[in-house]
Amino acid sequence: MADDSASLPGQLAATTLNDAVSSSEVPKAEFSDRVPIRSIVSRLDGGAGLAGNRVRIGGWVKTGRKADKDAFAFLELNDGSCPGNLQVIVDAAVADLSPLVPTGTCVVVDGVLKLPPAGTKQKVELRGEKVVHVGPVDPAKYPLPKTRLTLEFLRDVVHLRPRTNTISAVARIRNALAYATHTFFYKHGFLYVHTPIVTTSDCEGAGEMFQVTTLINEADKLEKELIKNPPPSAADIEAAQLIVKEKGDIVAQLKSAKASKGEINASVAELKKAKENLAKLEERSKLKPGIPQKDGKIDYTQDFFARQAFLTVSGQLQVESYACCLSSVYTFGPTFRAENSHTSRHLAEFWMVEPEIAFAELKDDMNCAEAYVKFMCQWLLDNCMEDMEFMADKFDKTCIDRLRMVASTPFERVSYTEAVELLEEAVKGGKKFENKVEWGIDLASEHERYLTEVKFQKPVIVYNYPKDIKAFYMRLNDDSKTVAAMDVLVPKVGELIGGSQREERLEVIQQRILDMGLPLEPYEWYLDLRRFGTVKHSGFGLGFERMLLFATGIENIRDVIPFPRYPGRADL
Ligand code: 4AD
Ligand code: MG
Repeated sequence: MADDSASLPGQLAATTLNDAVSSSEVPKAEFSDRVPIRSIVSRLDGGAGLAGNRVRIGGWVKTGRKADKDAFAFLELNDGSCPGNLQVIVDAAVADLSPLVPTGTCVVVDGVLKLPPAGTKQKVELRGEKVVHVGPVDPAKYPLPKTRLTLEFLRDVVHLRPRTNTISAVARIRNALAYATHTFFYKHGFLYVHTPIVTTSDCEGAGEMFQVTTLINEADKLEKELIKNPPPSAADIEAAQLIVKEKGDIVAQLKSAKASKGEINASVAELKKAKENLAKLEERSKLKPGIPQKDGKIDYTQDFFARQAFLTVSGQLQVESYACCLSSVYTFGPTFRAENSHTSRHLAEFWMVEPEIAFAELKDDMNCAEAYVKFMCQWLLDNCMEDMEFMADKFDKTCIDRLRMVASTPFERVSYTEAVELLEEAVKGGKKFENKVEWGIDLASEHERYLTEVKFQKPVIVYNYPKDIKAFYMRLNDDSKTVAAMDVLVPKVGELIGGSQREERLEVIQQRILDMGLPLEPYEWYLDLRRFGTVKHSGFGLGFERMLLFATGIENIRDVIPFPRYPGRADL
């Protein structure tokens, strides 16, 4: 793994700057006129070797205080490039100190890096020579006081919470995992495919989709318009009809009186105008407030896409169409589920990584899932140790050991039937579960966590689930009772990955769709993949936020996505 990090560009390289430690010069700033704090304090020598360098630093004050009878100020500056702060000392002769010290103030300072007096914690500090910019904060109004804030409190200020140590560390770990994901798949020859956010197919067939429609705003607009400009009454239309009749009579009279061509043409033109006016009134009289209906149902032909559309629950079905020609592909994007779950493991909007591999069966799928999860764990150990140490210190002492264990231990693999037997044994041995254990149940979170946390104490892949609890696209096994599905269960989280071999046999999948009570028509395009050049293929979906929960040890999924959406909540 070490060679992966060595080839990374500067911004993304290891947060412990091992290779830069011997240099006595600050790396040149890129795309900005200031030096990232990370390139100073994240060196193995804590920046000591850079003493004497003149630098410009920009950041936000974590803590600031005046000292020595207001002769100077100490500022702990953080710019998000790493968890560490740089201590900056500004003399009263250099700037007005009062606006600099409140937490949250943005400061840009030019100065010289100096070795601090012996016995202090930091290895280097900045002596400010010029304050170039101050973005002030009124401490009485700043929503993030210096006291320790709970993650629940921070959910009410999602636009400011990335300024906290925790949320910024999560953001860096999230970024690292995204980069690791693309690196892993790139290395293994997968193509990144962008699948649609708006879809007309329900991938999981579970009916938990958010609808995308403009019918409601159109109806709102029309309602307002009709209030401002009411539709014509029956009397208005009758009057217009009368005018048409009168104008028609005039044309007839002029024609029978053999009037001049000019006179007849003029009266015909008037008749035409009257008819047009009548048509317009009749058209407007048909406008009805509310959602358009046809045969007692909502008329989606009048909707934006001329049919019912939704936010995707998974990019799988569409990415399959690319797998069935490009062979190894993946999609990584936001997915949406309108399930009313208030758990610490569910979001209404979450990100999913979905590889899809042609010429691959369930075993290959499991091998890929295991290699991918291990790769991400090793990546964090190699590239994100400072942030991981912060997590271990503040949230979960075991998180680093867990990454090490997962990166180096083969995952356990048990069939669903074996898993249920193990759970039944546990029940016999006195273990109490809230949900009943018997063959055929969908494993509940408590069952999954028992298997991975207690029984095996490592990741477990459960495979070959009963067909009745799994989606229609999973390949039917020869026993006709189970499908070639697999879930990866990990300590702390439970289900991290759900995947399967796909049903590649046309007749079998058609029957499965019908058996599940789903309509065939919306899936005809999907069936074409089986009609034309069908191929055995497999894939899975990894819940990206679940991976973050697993890595960081943070308890609630709402704290590992920048802008969480869940029932009753969609701030910003
Ligand atoms: O098991 P799921 O529903 O599988 C699929 O959607 C397949 N189409 C994937 C595929 O084969 N390409 O979801 C996959 C993973 C789960 O294992 C879980 O980690 C995560 O997505 N997940 C959620 N994460 C957060 N909030 C939710 N509401 C989630 N629902 C599923
Ligand atoms: Mg699942």
